[in-house]
Amino acid sequence: MPVPESILRFEQVVVTYDGVDVLDNVTFTLTAGETRVILGAAGAGKTVLMKTALGLIHPDQGKVSLFNQEITGLREQELFAIRAQVGMLFQESALFDSMTIAENVAYPLFNQAGSQVSREDALARVESILKDVELEHTLDKFPSELSGGMRRRVGIARANVTNPKLVFYDSPTAGLDPITANNIMSLVIKQRDQRNTTTVIVSHRLQDGAMMANYRFNSKTGKIERQVHTAELDQRTKFMVMQKGRIVFEGTEDELHASRDPYVGKFVLQAKSA
Ligand SMILES: Nc1ncnc2c1ncn2[C@@H]1O[C@H](COP(=O)(O)OP(=O)(O)O)[C@@H](O)[C@H]1O
Ligand SMILES: [Mg+2]
Repeated sequence: MPVPESILRFEQVVVTYDGVDVLDNVTFTLTAGETRVILGAAGAGKTVLMKTALGLIHPDQGKVSLFNQEITGLREQELFAIRAQVGMLFQESALFDSMTIAENVAYPLFNQAGSQVSREDALARVESILKDVELEHTLDKFPSELSGGMRRRVGIARANVTNPKLVFYDSPTAGLDPITANNIMSLVIKQRDQRNTTTVIVSHRLQDGAMMANYRFNSKTGKIERQVHTAELDQRTKFMVMQKGRIVFEGTEDELHASRDPYVGKFVLQAKSA
């Protein structure tokens, strides 16, 4: 079997704040085409992990590689070029309040290394991706005029507008009601499957992970469809549970449910009764 391409690799990464290891010896490899679900309670280190993967936080120890290139120790300029291949939705969407929705979504097209798009081209791409998230009517609006769920959808569009190989979503459903949260998850899955991106999603909701693992976008029907949970399907999505900066579980959905780790068990049970 060919070895799958490594997209992101952490090797014994430590990030310390005020004497506390908020990432404590974190090691994992994300391969091309994989979906990775990072679960954990508030404060577990999920956002720090994502920012470290993007080179926004420098680890105190260990190595981080993106697309097989070690980024630890790279200069900002070099990092910029690599980061251009990554899309990201930050927690709370992090839209620019003073920019229109169109300008927000276009931002990565004009501000990423090596990106040379014309105004017309950018507008066409922005319109097309906003249509994908059913927000084509909001081009000239400002973030403050949209609901929380709509702002998340803008964030999803912005994360994907450059057609990145790898996309991170930090807590895309946090603070949303369950119906809006499911709609957001459907759009994340649609982007993943239309573009075949390697996708990392951070969440405190197990059901978000279950959706990533068991649903696919069908381009013929234009709908998200539940798949039969075969062993092969199970392998496509890997879960990681974090607790106090450590990875306490890494494996498939089936393995997650079979885990005997007490914290993982508690997390799974809590999510089921929520
Ligand atoms: N810039 C910072 N300075 C000090 N502590 C931080 C900083 N960023 C995060 N932390 C701490 O690191 C831990 C993990 O934070 P975070 O990754 O944001 O958690 P979450 O899993 O909720 O995303 C928390 O205890 C948080 O208080
Ligand atoms: Mg967070």
